[in-house]
Amino acid sequence: MQNVISFLDSNKERYLNELTEFLSIPSVSSQSNHNGDTRKCAQWVADQMRTIGMQNVQIFETPGHPIVCSEWMGAPGKPTILFYGHYDVQPVDPLNLWTSPPFQATIRGDNLYARGSADDKGQVFIHFKAIEAYMKNEGKLPVNIKMIIEGEEEVGSANLENFVKEHKQLLKSDLVLISDSSMFKKGVPSVCYGLRGLAYMEVEVTGPNSDLHSGTFGGSVHNPIQALSELIASLHDKNGKVTIKGFYNDVRALSKKERAAYKKLPWSDKEYSKNLGVKQLYGEKGYSSLERVWARPTLECNGIWGGYTGEGAKTVLPSKAFAKISMRLVPNQKSDKIAQLFEKHLKRIAPKTIDLKVKALHGGEAAITPIDSPGVKAAVAALEKGFGKKPLYQREGGSIPIVVQFKEILGLDTVLLGFGLPDENAHAPDEHINLDNFFGGMRTSAHFYNELTNYWGNGKK
Ligand code: BES
Ligand code: ZN
Repeated sequence: MQNVISFLDSNKERYLNELTEFLSIPSVSSQSNHNGDTRKCAQWVADQMRTIGMQNVQIFETPGHPIVCSEWMGAPGKPTILFYGHYDVQPVDPLNLWTSPPFQATIRGDNLYARGSADDKGQVFIHFKAIEAYMKNEGKLPVNIKMIIEGEEEVGSANLENFVKEHKQLLKSDLVLISDSSMFKKGVPSVCYGLRGLAYMEVEVTGPNSDLHSGTFGGSVHNPIQALSELIASLHDKNGKVTIKGFYNDVRALSKKERAAYKKLPWSDKEYSKNLGVKQLYGEKGYSSLERVWARPTLECNGIWGGYTGEGAKTVLPSKAFAKISMRLVPNQKSDKIAQLFEKHLKRIAPKTIDLKVKALHGGEAAITPIDSPGVKAAVAALEKGFGKKPLYQREGGSIPIVVQFKEILGLDTVLLGFGLPDENAHAPDEHINLDNFFGGMRTSAHFYNELTNYWGNGKK
């Protein structure tokens, strides 16, 4: 074990160079002009897997982007980890807000900046190197590991569920490990035990059958941008609650115990709002910030467009207006049902002056993972060794839709071992990963594989 850790500590320069190469491939899954890059990235992942000593490396085609799988099964009688991650990234726009080019990894201060550095290439790479360190120094791993790295997580993992259903034997293992979330804050490692779900919608409002001169027609026709804005504004009441009928019906209430635990976490609203640059926080009345983000369902308008947005002025009354609206969900809400409630509600409240189309783009379910499992115990021990501090337990507001499907299809619980930080600008300009956490993550991952052999068998199996 010690030689594995020393190896990790003495190869930092090489790791940064290799990660830079991984990050230079613009694998933006949502933009079809990047389909070639995304495929190239799958190839890079497969090559990397072979280099570090993984076996049976395979690239599987899907109707969308490829899935890369591999395994190392040389530890008979020991548990098998199914490591899941994603090599796709979110779009980079607005490009002009990046301090350095998004696909050219750049170190500034304690951080490495690039799209995918934290979400999720950097965190997947951490495990590649932890595995490599074992192979190079001991010729083996303490546990069996299977890897499944997909290219469509950022667009809802549409093809992954079928793949998992069709490859149960290939993926057969004892627990799932994912590093695609954050630590509580810098210097405070954590194990995550909850994720929110998602229902993502697109709305199209049509008014007149063509764009109109706003002088000739303005005042006599309901402007679709105005109508859409009125609809969106009405989706929250003055207490910050979502007004969609039935939206909260299935929400599992926070337990007294959980609320008390959240209160004990090292959290300051003042610091939070200051870091975000907002004068005042906003949210559902009666809940703390952590409760709002981790355990309450919410609705956000992710984008709104229509009319003229180019240089200078154009006096136009547009024919159409659009919005992308997503809802984060909590146990026991179901994304399909919420998508239907959304559509029904909007159709019911839409004014007669416009036509409304609602489309569901994708969805995923919220997840709660057990915190008394041998996997989580091993994660706690590993974080303590990797970061020199006892981790705390937290939930997260983001979504990883496959977590629930791994449980339903393969019967596996997931350990969420995140090495990002909430303020690392995932999905935003200047995404970065903190280098202490990057290297601490490698040590922790190496310890995790080892610790798992201590805890497995003492718990359930
Ligand atoms: N890494 C995130 C998930 C995440 C974010 C976990 C924050 C914990 C905290 C992941 O890559 C992601 O962004 N997922 C999407 C899923 C969606 C497209 C279905 C998300 O949450 O928006
Ligand atoms: Zn991610």
